[in-house]
Amino acid sequence: MALPSRVKIVEVSPRDGLQNEKEFVPTDVKVELVNRLAAAGFPNVEAASFVSPKWVPQMADGADVMARIERRPGTIYSVLTPNMKGFEGALAAGADEIVIFGAASEAFSQKNINCSIAESIARFEPVVQAAREAGIRVRGSISCALGCPYQGEVPVEAVVDVAQRYLAMQVDEIDVADTIGVGTPQRVRDVMAAVTRVVDPARVSGHFHDTYGQALANILAALETGISIFHTSVAGLGGCPYAKGATGNVATEDVLYMLRGLDIDTGVDFDAVVDIGQWMSAHLNRKGSSRAGNAIAAKRAA
Ligand code: HMG
Ligand code: MG
Repeated sequence: MALPSRVKIVEVSPRDGLQNEKEFVPTDVKVELVNRLAAAGFPNVEAASFVSPKWVPQMADGADVMARIERRPGTIYSVLTPNMKGFEGALAAGADEIVIFGAASEAFSQKNINCSIAESIARFEPVVQAAREAGIRVRGSISCALGCPYQGEVPVEAVVDVAQRYLAMQVDEIDVADTIGVGTPQRVRDVMAAVTRVVDPARVSGHFHDTYGQALANILAALETGISIFHTSVAGLGGCPYAKGATGNVATEDVLYMLRGLDIDTGVDFDAVVDIGQWMSAHLNRKGSSRAGNAIAAKRAA
């Protein structure tokens, strides 16, 4: 299949990237990160989570972050909402898009959101309905679509089943998420082929963590199956506190570098993203994991 000429990148570092940091990242830094990403041209920035602060203390300041960011016209600011309480927070905060997040693995569903897959779907239904009534876009994320830290193998049918339940709720976009980065390109092709048999590929995104170094290869495999939306995180930040051993999302800089080489447009200012990655890494007092970002920063310094 011909590769798309344009790809939508959803920048998830303010949420997926920072939710896993041990030290609390100050609200000011989160706000600056969201603002800089939006200014760099990302059409969609995942800015915060409205989850229980007991479960994810790092995201406890979501309402403040949303209140203080500058809203760029045309940018979609998304937030995670596991239940109606989260949705009420998201609505009050003026989120453009909410993300319901379920899993294709029962074990992970229990660990991450403290309920079964069926219970999670029942919990999401009123959330999606309320969002639709309020004119808020909805994304449905499917964790552990390529493997689970607790259960191991996850059947393709389990991923398709959650996708169909999301479709029945009329979500706008469906995220196929490799929470622990165990997927390899053939498995990605199989899962994406199965999901896109029931969902329009234009509404499916790939969310790949890079734990096993497969994420770029997996993105290329997904591109070849007609997927044109990907989630990335500057400096490769990220991980889920309830997914043991998972490291960050694929680094935004690496994905932009690859897409540029493939002549695929994203509308994002690559140099600005390298700067953001270096700034954020300096703030966190460690070297970021983006190979392309670090290579370009080293070349600039030489
Ligand atoms: P629970 O303990 O079963 O919920 O947690 P509960 O309804 O019994 O509530 C317990 C307490 O939390 C109560 O407070 C609620 O008010 C409060 P208390 O009475 O004890 O003081 N509470 C909330 N507070 C703020 N906002 C809310 C909210 N809901 C309840 N929305 C719950 C169930 C879903 C809330 C919990 O398990 C939770 O918050 N989980 C979130 C976990 C999470 O954020 N994980 C990381 C994001 S997912 C991810 O990273 C994967 C992804 O990147 C894709 C991939 O890579 O796979 C998206
Ligand atoms: Mg994730």
